[in-house]
Amino acid sequence: MLGARAQGGWRALRRCASLPRAVRLRVREALGAREAADAVRVQGWVRSVRSQKEVLFLHINDGSSLEHLQVVANPSLENRDLTFGSAVEVQGKLVKSPHRKQNMELQAETICVVGPCDIWSFPLKMKERHPLEYVRQFPHLRCRNNTLGSLLRIRSEATAAIHSFFQDNGYVHIHTPIITSNDCEGAGELFQIEASSEVRESAEKTHFFNVPAFLTVSGQLHLEVMAGAFTHVFTFGPTFRAENSQSRRHLAEFYMVEAELSFTESLQDIMQVMEDLFKTVTSTVLSRCPHDVELFHKYVAPAQKDRLEQILKNKFVTISYSEAVEILKQASQTFTFKPEWGCDLQTEHEKYLVKHCGEIPVFVINYPYDLKPFYMRDNEDGPQHTVAAVDLLVPGIGELCGGSLREERLPFLESRLQRLGLTDAYQWYLDLRKFGSVPHGGFGMGFERYLQYILGVDNIKDVIPFPRFSHSCLL
Ligand code: 4AD
Ligand code: MG
Repeated sequence: MLGARAQGGWRALRRCASLPRAVRLRVREALGAREAADAVRVQGWVRSVRSQKEVLFLHINDGSSLEHLQVVANPSLENRDLTFGSAVEVQGKLVKSPHRKQNMELQAETICVVGPCDIWSFPLKMKERHPLEYVRQFPHLRCRNNTLGSLLRIRSEATAAIHSFFQDNGYVHIHTPIITSNDCEGAGELFQIEASSEVRESAEKTHFFNVPAFLTVSGQLHLEVMAGAFTHVFTFGPTFRAENSQSRRHLAEFYMVEAELSFTESLQDIMQVMEDLFKTVTSTVLSRCPHDVELFHKYVAPAQKDRLEQILKNKFVTISYSEAVEILKQASQTFTFKPEWGCDLQTEHEKYLVKHCGEIPVFVINYPYDLKPFYMRDNEDGPQHTVAAVDLLVPGIGELCGGSLREERLPFLESRLQRLGLTDAYQWYLDLRKFGSVPHGGFGMGFERYLQYILGVDNIKDVIPFPRFSHSCLL
C-alpha cells in the first residue's frame, strides 16, 4: 500500500504529465545543449534549494551527470514539499546561463513535486560532503550522494569499456555458469548451494543437483572449454569466495574479468593483453567520465591522476618470482612472514615489491610449481621447479590480476592429476588435451580492485553498488 504522501506524489506526476507536451531531456543533455529551447521537461531529485526574495534557485540531478542543472524560478512556485531530496518534474525554457560555470539553465514555468522527502529523517544533508564511511551505513540511499553517483557511473563506463576492448579484439563473450560443480582447484574457498528445504532436512544428505554444487570461484575452466572452439574468449561476471578475510581488498561477491587465448605459447602474450586491457579501459574511463574521475582524484586520492597518467605512458615492469624473493630477502624492512623461495608472496611482500620498483604495476612471473594449481604449465627449468604463472601487482592494492599458460600436454597433465588423486574428477579436462589440444593461457582481473586502484579508494566496499554481503559489512 502506498502511503498518503506517496499517493500524493503519483497524483502530482499524473498532473505533470498532463501539461502540454514538452521535450523531455536528461540533465546531461540539458547541460550540453547548444541552443535554447522553449518547452523542455526535466525530471530528477533536488540537490539544493535557495530561495531569495525575487528568485528561487534549485539544483536538479537525475544521475546522468555529476553536474546538476540549475533551475531558476519565480518564488511563487515554491511550496512546502519542494525540499532537498524531493523528486520533481520541472517544465520551462532552456536558456544560456549568465553564469560562467555552467552552459545552460532552466527557467521554470511549472514545478511539480512528484515525491516529497522528509529532510529531517533523510540521512543525506544538503551541500554536505559525507565521508564514504558515513554513507556506507545507508546502502539503499547512498547512490544519491555525489561520490557514489560518480563511482557507479565510472563502474558502468568501465564495464562497457571492458566489453568493447574484447569485442574489438575479436574475443567471443561467454556466460560461464554461476552455479557449478567445479571448484577451479584451489582458486578460493567455496560457497555451497543447496535448496533451503534440503538445508533444513540436512540429515538426509541429498543434494539438490545430486552432486555438491557451488557458487563459481572462477570461470577459467569453462573458458578453456570455449577457447578450444572460439580461439579467443572472455567472461565478465560475478565470482564468489568464502575466505573469511576482512580486508580492504576482499569481497565475498566480486566481479572478475577473465580471458582465455588459444594458440598462445608465451606468457608475455598473456601479459601484453593484461597491460593493453588495463591501459585501454583506463584511458576510456578517463576520457568518458572526466568530472566523475576528477571528484575522486580531488577529494579521495589527491595525486592519483598524475600517477595514473605516468603509468599509462610507461611499460609495466616484469620480475621473476625468484628475483622477487631475492629483493625481499635483501630488504631492510622486517616482514611478518619471512620471505623464502617456495612460499607464497604475502600482501606485505607485494606492497614492498611495488615500492621497490617505483610504485608502478609489476608483473611477477614463474612461480614455484608446488605453489600453484595443477593446470599451470611446467616451465621444465628443473624437476617440477616453476610454472608459467603471472600475477600483476599494483600500488596500494597488491594483486590485481592472476594468470598462466595452461598445461596443454596430455602426459604432463595426466601425471600431475594422478599424483593429486584428481584423475577421475578431471576426465573431461583431460579430454580437452586429447581432442585438438593447443598451447593456451589466460588470466583474471578483479574488477573492484581495478576500480579501487584507478580511483585511489581505500576500502573495496566503497566501489560496489550494494555492500550488504561483503564479509564484515552486513548492513
Ligand atoms: O588470482 P585469482 O584467484 O585467479 C583465478 O581465479 C584464475 N582462475 C583466473 C584466470 O586465470 N582465469 O583471481 C583473479 C583476481 C585476483 O587477482 C584479484 O584481483 C581478484 O580476482 N580477487 C578478488 N577480488 C575481490 N575479492 C576477493 N575475495 C578476490 N579474490 C580474487
Ligand atoms: Mg591469484
